[in-house]
Amino acid sequence: MARNLGQCAAASIALALAAVTCSAHADVKPEYNGMRLHELYVENLTPDHRPLDATSPLHAELARHFRTFEAWRRDFAAVASIRILYEDPESGRLSNHWVTLHEHGHPAGFRPLLVMDVWEHAFLVDYKPTERSRYIEAFFANVDWRTVEGRFARGEAEATRARPA
Ligand SMILES: [Fe+2]
Repeated sequence: MARNLGQCAAASIALALAAVTCSAHADVKPEYNGMRLHELYVENLTPDHRPLDATSPLHAELARHFRTFEAWRRDFAAVASIRILYEDPESGRLSNHWVTLHEHGHPAGFRPLLVMDVWEHAFLVDYKPTERSRYIEAFFANVDWRTVEGRFARGEAEATRARPA
């Protein structure tokens, strides 16, 4: 009987530790995702903007998956919260996603290529709450396509390495 109690106590302690660990992770995950999403957002902006080269592999892929680059741009700009252009490393497919909370809505294994924070806190210093569309235009006028292309190229390189020779 004592042995069973000991086993139960040990199991309880293990469960309690697991609960504490999971609880700690639950507290960290939203903050980690929020930190990374904001890092990606800031990194894909530049005052030295140049349009995406229409002959680049990324431009071609956006046009292939969304019919045209402009169709992709309209779709990307259509939703509030946080907008993310993802690449699925398994299929190579590009898709636009939105997340409201940092910890929800991320497709497992997908690579974020371009992040746009559309929460009001991202633009209220420069624009009124009703001027979201002006902020989005300013965002596109400051996208650092070299950074976005670099993220895309890393995915291409990894896919090439993963293919059997
Ligand atoms: Fe934000």
